Amino acid sequence: MNDDKPTTVIIFGASGDLTRRKLIPALLNLYCKGQLPNRFNIVGFARRPWDHAEFRRLAREGVQEYASSVYQPAAWARFAEALWYARGDLDRPDDYRALEGFLAGLEGGDANRLYYLATGPEFFPVTVDALGKIGGECEDCGWRRLVVEKPFGNDLASARALNSAIHAVFDEHQVYRIDHYLGKETAQNILFFRFANTIFEPIWNRRYVDHVQVTVAERVDVGRRAGYYDQAGVLRDMFQNHLLQLLTLVAMEPPASFNADAVRNEKVKVLSAIRPVEMHDTVRAQYRGYTETERVAPGSPTPTYAALRLHIDNWRWRGVPFYLRSGKALATKVSEIVIQFQRPPHMMFNLPKDYRITSNILSLCIQPDEGMHLTFETKVPGSGQEMRSMDMEFHYREGFEGVVLPDAYERLLLDALNGDASLFTRSDEIEHAWALIDTIRAGWESDGAPPLAVYEPGAWGPDEADELLERDGRTWRVTCGDHH
Ligand code: BG6
Repeated sequence: MNDDKPTTVIIFGASGDLTRRKLIPALLNLYCKGQLPNRFNIVGFARRPWDHAEFRRLAREGVQEYASSVYQPAAWARFAEALWYARGDLDRPDDYRALEGFLAGLEGGDANRLYYLATGPEFFPVTVDALGKIGGECEDCGWRRLVVEKPFGNDLASARALNSAIHAVFDEHQVYRIDHYLGKETAQNILFFRFANTIFEPIWNRRYVDHVQVTVAERVDVGRRAGYYDQAGVLRDMFQNHLLQLLTLVAMEPPASFNADAVRNEKVKVLSAIRPVEMHDTVRAQYRGYTETERVAPGSPTPTYAALRLHIDNWRWRGVPFYLRSGKALATKVSEIVIQFQRPPHMMFNLPKDYRITSNILSLCIQPDEGMHLTFETKVPGSGQEMRSMDMEFHYREGFEGVVLPDAYERLLLDALNGDASLFTRSDEIEHAWALIDTIRAGWESDGAPPLAVYEPGAWGPDEADELLERDGRTWRVTCGDHH
């Protein structure tokens, strides 16, 4: 960071969980690695009647609880000197003026500022508007950037309204919309894997790929977040952002350069090439017992699981289905992308009539056992013509032994501080994704909706999701972890 101005990170909603769990540990880690600017301050803004000391104490407790491996008393003591608390109400303009006064005193002149909206989404517009009133976007004295947490709207109309509220104050180049999946090392690695190697890209298309699967499974149920979740459901909570983002990374064309706009232009092209989804290509389901959860409406039809079959109507992917699935209360936590290749066009081996040769499969494991697997057929030694699938594996934990994969927030905060927006979603990306999700949700509220299936907690989802693939002669696969 070759900018000698001091930098201030201002966290709105600093008394919330995200600050203690993610933001402070990520900033501390960056500090310990020497990646924060030389002169920096972190100012928490929230309503609780805390002072600086109290904020520092709670922040330390958060680090000790959620990121204990990062905590070292000496480093913490130095880091904590840069932590400050400004008490204020998000909807009181006077409190922003007081904040501005406090910041000016702290910075003592020109400074860069990163505003982080870690509040509930209902406060995003009011905070942005109030920042506008104190000239918070003006870059005359240093850069100004706005990081916006999810959820970014809850449908296309609200996302558009939020984009316009933000654009009324900040220019798009100043806006960083978080999707923490993009900050995961292995999600970023999809691009390196595809575009820093020559051997995969030539076969990364409809001539060789049979289909693609994206699985983001979670073992946890909706738990304490039931109130929010019951309004959101799995399409808004996981598909609109994380699953569609993973899909764009797998399906996009190679950009000419790795700069934010070049990458995001290609992602938008993928999103806009997704064919409108037919209801028979969707599965919606709820785990048994969901409606008995506290803060879930009685008889709520909110899906906690969905599976989709999508088509990308472009030259590369025409005819290649993309199957996406995600849900809560499933058998395990795993995020994985499977690329299944076509079968050999002709089998010269003398195999039993009903023998189905296993296709080559490349799987990209996003989490938890980060890595890659490539399965291929081998001859079983000593046998006549018997074959078996073997797995060639790369695991981060072995290939990069001793290296701890940085948390997604660490990477994203660093990028925002460095002004690199490649891993943040642009306004048009968000809107395309919402348009797609809105159509599915509208279908699910219409007469043609597929029935709400039920699955047992701890299972792999409803039978209907298996049938979605079986009718195409395919099956879901999980190759990461212990699920071979
Ligand atoms: C969040 C969703 O965006 O992602 C949560 O709101 C979900 O419902 C979480 O649990 C999953 O993230 P990760 O990093 O644990 O896979």
